[in-house]
Amino acid sequence: MNDSLRAVLQKRLAQLQSAGQDRPRRTVQSLPQGRCRCDGRTLISFGSNDYLGLTHHPDVRAAFADAAGRQVGSGSSALITGRSDEHAALEAELAEFEHSEAALLFPSGYAANAGTLQALIGPEDVIFSERDNHASLIDGCRLTRAAVHLFTRHDLPQLRQILSTHRNQGRQAFLITDGVFSMDGTVAPLARLCSLAEEFDAALIVDEAHGTGVVGAEGRGACELENVCGRVFLRIVTLSKALGGLGGAVVGDAPTIAWLWNRARPQFFSTALPPAVCAAVRASLKIVRAEPERRRRLQKLTQQAREIVRDAGLTVLADGPAPIIPLQAPAGCRIRETVDCLMDAGWYLPGIVPPTVPPGTERFRMSLTSDHQVDEVRAVIECLASHMRPDGKSRSRPPSRTP
Ligand SMILES: Cc1ncc(COP(=O)(O)O)c(C=O)c1O
Repeated sequence: MNDSLRAVLQKRLAQLQSAGQDRPRRTVQSLPQGRCRCDGRTLISFGSNDYLGLTHHPDVRAAFADAAGRQVGSGSSALITGRSDEHAALEAELAEFEHSEAALLFPSGYAANAGTLQALIGPEDVIFSERDNHASLIDGCRLTRAAVHLFTRHDLPQLRQILSTHRNQGRQAFLITDGVFSMDGTVAPLARLCSLAEEFDAALIVDEAHGTGVVGAEGRGACELENVCGRVFLRIVTLSKALGGLGGAVVGDAPTIAWLWNRARPQFFSTALPPAVCAAVRASLKIVRAEPERRRRLQKLTQQAREIVRDAGLTVLADGPAPIIPLQAPAGCRIRETVDCLMDAGWYLPGIVPPTVPPGTERFRMSLTSDHQVDEVRAVIECLASHMRPDGKSRSRPPSRTP
């Protein structure tokens, strides 16, 4: 039974493999100080989104362990019996941190994005969506069955044109964008997007997944950096990246949050986050507020890394304030082989291939944490540069680091 389906899948897998687009399923143990352990080796990792090093912070682990000592799973969705004191306290603290009226937790950032769009937007509405938005926003747009018009943040006159042509085709209009783009670390031109949203009576929704805790004077993300928090309809944050935990949350005005509580399907058809995760994220939020030097250090390291990359003659695909550095993989570069070679030398630097990024924009995505040292950044870049020498010849053994 189902043999023909399996045969089709095997054929498709073989096609992925021959295109170098199948994804290795590694087992990686995350360690403190930007390290990880993989295949028996300890590597310095530039792959995690743990930007502030909070996944291993003693206060965060202690808060988690303490709450986990009382209870593990939530047992049901928040709607039924899953919303504990920890959930309520985290929602209140997130709302306060974001200077917002209310917040609502979701089981993941993905669920927060997809569920928010599904609950707010219907087939009679119209969506204007940035073309590089995260998959969870793209999937959320599909769930709405509304007409979707793509735009690029690099051409706002064209967006204006698209809005002029299509705005009146929908009852409500929604402008949807990542705040920080996950594959290149750039920030959306939010002030100008707000102006367009206001002019065309559209609700602007911003995914702050890679901004929260990292950019903005107080770590409230791209909207804070661009000084538009009060002009944006909703902001969606993930608790899984700089906050070192798991989950997502939507922050906004009280009636909209109440509507999402009643209508966002991933939020009430999925078991609530474990209370211990909420306790851990509450501890992370305290650190984000109390230790701005972590963020400043990361910002400085990001600038230094960009200079190091340029000095090494590598091409950066985009310049942004976030600690994500997209290093171009030159045409013909065997990405998987390069990643393996870097691992042999003691570094983990992920290669990103389609469909995560468009064909022709394959890259190495270097993400920094406040725990990385500038010498470590210099060494991995030197290693990558030597591997991709302009003569096209890979060195059989790149210079390795002393573990
Ligand atoms: C821009 C963006 N939004 C949302 C998400 C989803 O967040 P989570 O991993 O918490 O589900 C991600 C995850 O990588 C992301 O990069």
